[in-house]
Amino acid sequence: MSKTSVLFVCLGNICRSPMAESIFRHKVDRAGLAESFVIESAGTGDWHVGDNPDPRTIRVLAQNGVHEFSRARQVTSSDFAEFDHIIAMDLANERDLCDWNGSVPHRVSLMSSWGGDGGRIEVPDPYYGDFGGFEEVFKMLDSTTDGLLVKLTK
Ligand code: 4NP
Repeated sequence: MSKTSVLFVCLGNICRSPMAESIFRHKVDRAGLAESFVIESAGTGDWHVGDNPDPRTIRVLAQNGVHEFSRARQVTSSDFAEFDHIIAMDLANERDLCDWNGSVPHRVSLMSSWGGDGGRIEVPDPYYGDFGGFEEVFKMLDSTTDGLLVKLTK
């Protein structure tokens, strides 16, 4: 069976998209579906390439029983050939991905389009705020990744 590949994308790849990657991988593993998915994350910016996630991302993940995460990297043109789903956290990320050199816009979607309560279009950037923002982002991503898993395993 061929694998479904998912790339989560935000700006810095240290807050929202690595959180989405870790939560989604945790759910996929728990469902016994690890062999069916390739799951990564990346940033449209390059400031944090090689860094661990923000300590507040690591903390909110750990508080929720998620202990694995990966280091930051930037989006590359080859991602558009390699990933079935390139999922943007906010509208600026989505626009940047659709404008990217080598973009395949029909593979690009917005995180909120996969699930959640439908009330919020964007996953807000928590970087310049306090820890409460990270808890809010965790809740949103916990909900949207549920929808993503249901839709991708139908
Ligand atoms: P993220 O948050 O896009 O959710 O990873 C940010 C992290 C770092 C920066 C901006 C947003 N930054 O400007 O360094």
